[in-house]
Amino acid sequence: MFCSYLIGAVISFYHVGLELHLFHDVLGCTEQASGNVRCIVEKERNLNNLRYSNNQFWQQAIRVNHAGEYGAICIYSGQKFILKKSSIINEIIEMEEQEKKHFHYFNEKIKEQKVRPTVLLPVWRVLGVSLGVATAIMGKKAAMACTAAVEEVIGEHYKEQVSHLEDGELRETISKFRDEELEHRDIAIQHNAESAFGYNILSSFIKTGCKTAIYLSKLI
Ligand SMILES: [Fe+2]
Ligand SMILES: [Fe+2]
Repeated sequence: MFCSYLIGAVISFYHVGLELHLFHDVLGCTEQASGNVRCIVEKERNLNNLRYSNNQFWQQAIRVNHAGEYGAICIYSGQKFILKKSSIINEIIEMEEQEKKHFHYFNEKIKEQKVRPTVLLPVWRVLGVSLGVATAIMGKKAAMACTAAVEEVIGEHYKEQVSHLEDGELRETISKFRDEELEHRDIAIQHNAESAFGYNILSSFIKTGCKTAIYLSKLI
């Protein structure tokens, strides 16, 4: 009789132990599963943030490039108006034509990707034409100093964008535009931009203005 109680007790303890062990396993699995779910949710959130920031980055990039090319056309048209009989008129016309092609490309992107253009376009028009006219009145060298400063800032701006892009049509096109902007800078330097009166001050002033315009065009 005692032996059968003893055997019964041992078997019961064995079952309780087994169930506790199973319970522990189930708890472990649940914890692991909820940990995995948390991890997946976290990864999904990070991915969404990345998609959003990437998308926002490109919306801003297209908006600012569109504004920059528009501003460049305005500067050249101001210079062209004053320097129409000058020896550098062909260079100015040629550079302006390239800016028009650049502008056309980003104008198409704006429509295609439904990006809002900057509200500052009318401001850039007034300031761009005024800058072109003012530097052209100061003389050919000052006009070229303006071109060198503007093109250097735009070239650097495109260089930075290209570094964020993967291989593809957009990267190829912006790389081509970057090269053309830097060619414009070189043309301006070849035409004595650096010997313009007060070159360093004029160049710093225009570069700061361009960087401010880039900053503002991204935002509004
Ligand atoms: Fe351009
Ligand atoms: Fe240019």
